[in-house]
Amino acid sequence: MPQLLAVSGALGRMGRRIAELAANAGHTVVAPIDLKNAGESYGALLGDPRHKAPVVTAYQGGAEVMIDFSLPGAFETRLRECRRHKTAFVSGTTGLLPAHFELLDQAAQEIPVLWAANMSTGVNLLLGLVRQCAAALPESYDIEIVEMHHRRKVDAPSGTALALLHAICAGNGRNAGEVVRHGRSGHTGERTRQEIGMHTLRGGDVVGDHTVIFAAEGERIELSHKASSRDTFAAGALRAAEWIAGKLAGRYNMAQVLGL
Ligand SMILES: NC(=O)c1ccc[n+]([C@@H]2O[C@H](COP(=O)([O-])OP(=O)(O)OC[C@H]3O[C@@H](n4cnc5c(N)ncnc54)[C@H](OP(=O)(O)O)[C@@H]3O)[C@@H](O)[C@H]2O)c1
Repeated sequence: MPQLLAVSGALGRMGRRIAELAANAGHTVVAPIDLKNAGESYGALLGDPRHKAPVVTAYQGGAEVMIDFSLPGAFETRLRECRRHKTAFVSGTTGLLPAHFELLDQAAQEIPVLWAANMSTGVNLLLGLVRQCAAALPESYDIEIVEMHHRRKVDAPSGTALALLHAICAGNGRNAGEVVRHGRSGHTGERTRQEIGMHTLRGGDVVGDHTVIFAAEGERIELSHKASSRDTFAAGALRAAEWIAGKLAGRYNMAQVLGL
């Protein structure tokens, strides 16, 4: 079903891909929201005449679903606008704080909302596999998470790496905040059994690589996902928008969207 969409972060790397895939699918971006270029033609800025709406800095209603890939600083405003205009909210923005998730839960009492650290099918499958491994393997398997992204990424570790950490802890009953160990440097002492190492690499144009390692005496399991195009996230976000339109108020997740 063709949809009317708002896109927050419309001129960003993700926003541009979402706009193109949305137009390919017959949807209309009625509210391209960004900080810059207010009043200019979105279609002209993207070199795609299918987009007729001008860029706006605030959402005034008119869309069935807002897709937000911007910055944590925009999150509260976008959510407030969606509540006011009864617009469903799908967000992939990372680097959020606990207070942002409280706002999301409050909004879920009035509108359908979905936030996911990663919208790709592969990563959402990986989250389930990692949880299964963590539940099945004994404590003698040391667990480490490694992620790599392009040099322009502003938050670390990635939202997906944190989601992997939480999936592992959901599997083995550990407390993520207590066991995570960010990088190692200097005289660290021996690795403890419970800790889960978290390692961030940045460079080049890497779209998003994540690996979870379960290492024991004599063997090692590595579960990896490598995204080679942002379209995998953009397609997931659009699938979420199509799925959430018309749903009752509530907080939904990508596993539900993808039927995993
Ligand atoms: N969940 C997923 O699957 C997934 C996948 C990829 C990326 N992400 C996340 O999505 C977010 C965006 O990534 P990106 O690579 O597209 O970043 P980006 O290229 O920096 O795009 C972000 C856009 O949002 C704009 N923006 C900033 N503040 C805003 C505000 N208050 N209102 C409206 N627009 C605002 C930025 O404008 P300026 O340039 O003027 O600041 C920029 O155009 C990041 O948090 C990233 O980690 C999630």
